[in-house]
Amino acid sequence: MTLELGVLVSGNGTNLQAILDAIGSGTLDARVRCVISNRAGAFALERAARSGVPALTIAHGAHPSREAFDRALIAALREHGAEWIVLAGFMRLLTPQFLRAFPGRVINIHPSLLPAFPGVNAMKQALDHGAKETGCTVHFVDEGMDTGPIIAQRTVPILPADDESSLAERMHRTEHELFVEVLVGIANGSIEPRGVASSRPGPG
Ligand code: GRF
Repeated sequence: MTLELGVLVSGNGTNLQAILDAIGSGTLDARVRCVISNRAGAFALERAARSGVPALTIAHGAHPSREAFDRALIAALREHGAEWIVLAGFMRLLTPQFLRAFPGRVINIHPSLLPAFPGVNAMKQALDHGAKETGCTVHFVDEGMDTGPIIAQRTVPILPADDESSLAERMHRTEHELFVEVLVGIANGSIEPRGVASSRPGPG
């Protein structure tokens, strides 16, 4: 099944590039229907345009509320035919309304072994704690900050001489592999949509 992806970004877009490259090489059976950035000028938009993918800016600041921003995202993603939504360095929390629009089909990558070090500066947090290894996590998205059900994780060693930049370089290489592997799993049906509601035990 060809995956119809919508990719949300805020920055450089190396993970987006890894996805585009995997599609280009035939490793991943998917199409990136559109790339949407909440920040104008994000380099990820340039990467999308170079690959002939529609690249849009929907600035969160131009909308009066999170709900209005998410409504604009949903409309653009639907208009472009996106079915699975990939957060690739997208620095905004999504509303329940957004998650209901793509039930169980929104995934994120985070540069730590969740539930350790959620939120921003995950690699700095790991270094500041003196962690000897960290890693990355691909997970389904819920309303929280990096809290949804985990799909896959991979460890990344922290070397004594590491600073944020050397760790980030090693992290990114691992992220790119893991993200593509998960998307291949979704495309071949071995990873199924997972509604966050169904992942939590009911009352009693
Ligand atoms: C990655 O480290 C990802 O885990 C985090 O944001 C970063 C995005 O990097 N959510 P890039 O824009 O894909 O290069």
